[in-house]
Amino acid sequence: MACLLRARNLSFSVARRVRCMSNVPENSVYSGPKSQNPNQRVTLSHLRQKHRASQPITMVTAYDYPAAVHLDTAAIDICLVGDSAAMVVHGHDTTLPITLDEMLVHCRAVARGAKTPLLIGDLPFGTYESGSNQAVDTAVRILKEGGMDAIKLEGGSPSRIFAAKAIVEAGIAVMGHVGLTPQAISVLGGFRPQGKNVASAVKVVETALALQEAGCFAVVLECVPAPVAAAATAALQIPTIGIGAGPFCSGQVLVYHDLLGMLQHPHHAKVTPKFCKQYAHVGNVINKALLEYKEDVANGSFPDALHSPYKISRTDADVFSNELQRLGLDKAASAASEAVQKMVTTK
Ligand code: KIV
Repeated sequence: MACLLRARNLSFSVARRVRCMSNVPENSVYSGPKSQNPNQRVTLSHLRQKHRASQPITMVTAYDYPAAVHLDTAAIDICLVGDSAAMVVHGHDTTLPITLDEMLVHCRAVARGAKTPLLIGDLPFGTYESGSNQAVDTAVRILKEGGMDAIKLEGGSPSRIFAAKAIVEAGIAVMGHVGLTPQAISVLGGFRPQGKNVASAVKVVETALALQEAGCFAVVLECVPAPVAAAATAALQIPTIGIGAGPFCSGQVLVYHDLLGMLQHPHHAKVTPKFCKQYAHVGNVINKALLEYKEDVANGSFPDALHSPYKISRTDADVFSNELQRLGLDKAASAASEAVQKMVTTK
């Protein structure tokens, strides 16, 4: 009996410790529904509640620990480790080159920083197209090794719908992605908006419906006209998350670097999408700081006494200098003595 109690206490304390981690099932199965407390991770149930209450869902991408902490602090609902990392972090022209191993590194860093948003990892190009088994294997790695809560996959061809269904059946929540699907630029003929004619608009809505039927919990609508996004949002029971899709979606997503105006280099300024509102010009702030640092180092004003915090007492400095002289290091001895003088003067 004592043993049983110890085991129960142990499992209770383990459950308490892991409650804030990702990949942990909601404990409501065991203890009944709970109201959302501010430190609790966003789950599919919270998203459903927001959607039912017509409250817009917020989603932003993150690829590293500091960005994840920022999203967490801002109480963003969903944090997407997008394969856009290939472009905005790794400097590629498309999302195609990023590998699963690279994505997993980004996922793990983000999982350490974002304690409350729902964490979604993108399935990178080349890791899920050849069949449902491959898709399930990749999705499992994103959860087990990347610490994500769910995955996102692009497209709505029949094989992609099968893959989405198989992943959901494996117990992994799936977000769909239709409209402009950047992994398909080869067949789309570039980064082109979709749904701009009747056939294409109907295809966007039908594909979104098929993804819902496959069990997806939400669908990203990328670069489609606002009326097409409005139609898809009305047709679906699950939330739509828009990017370049106008204001009638259930939520919005932007790429972190784009919304912060991080990439101010002319090349990057060109690729910041038209639909993106820049809420800051962080790139300018970074450039200015780097130039000031360079100038301060060049003219010797950094580091000053204020930024040289580690002290040696006057007595120890004198003994040190004598010791250097005894070792025949006369230049080093005078350098140490002069430095003591200078630090006193600049203070
Ligand atoms: O990879 C990404 O950042 C995305 C968003 C654009 C939705 O898929």
